[in-house]
Amino acid sequence: MNFLTIGHRGIMGVEPENTLRSFVAAELAGLDVIELDLHLSKDGALVVMHDADVDRTTDGSGPIADRTLAQIRTLDAGRGERVPVFEEVLDAVRAPLQAEIKDIAAARALADVMHARNLVPRVEVLSFHDAALAEISRLVPDARTALVASRYGLDVVDRATAVGAGTLVLNIRRLTLELVERARKADLRIIGWVVNTQDQLRLVRALGLDGATTDHPEIKRTARFTA
Ligand code: G3P
Ligand code: CA
Repeated sequence: MNFLTIGHRGIMGVEPENTLRSFVAAELAGLDVIELDLHLSKDGALVVMHDADVDRTTDGSGPIADRTLAQIRTLDAGRGERVPVFEEVLDAVRAPLQAEIKDIAAARALADVMHARNLVPRVEVLSFHDAALAEISRLVPDARTALVASRYGLDVVDRATAVGAGTLVLNIRRLTLELVERARKADLRIIGWVVNTQDQLRLVRALGLDGATTDHPEIKRTARFTA
């Protein structure tokens, strides 16, 4: 299996995160997979944004959940980009996607789009929330899911297995060989995030991970030579 490079929120080191511009740039840079984050607007649209509030990444303020899509569309998400909805990303790039459910309320809407557009082969569903992954698996039984974790112990392997996830997406700061070995015994793939330096790339390659989520296109170029 090839080592995968995954563009984080598009390629957020060089473009405004979670914008179409960022996703297109990630694809042009040759990233194997593109990651994005999902929330639900007040009127049920699948809004592509990391935070629950629009403050940090746009010129607006307040929670996404309190705004309609039309209101969210008036905001500037950086360099004049509008906040996209998930369906627009599907059409803007051809790459496989990792769709991270930030708000469990988005699980049902994502499941509906996955059914309507036959997305199981293209979209892996990620979440920090075990319940969101369980809900996706209930609604889309053949969906591929990944448990994301930042602060975690060895029990993260059991958590992933319990919700039927096939992949762990782990903050590299806490990675240990013991955890990697335990995950392998449970037949889990492991992706490390965020991998932005050559030392970080060497670490995840030495641990034998399956891929790296990165903010920078250079990691794609270097990963070819660190097998
Ligand atoms: O791929 C996992 C990663 O995206 C989780 O971190 O904060 O960027 O959503 P965050
Ligand atoms: Ca994310």
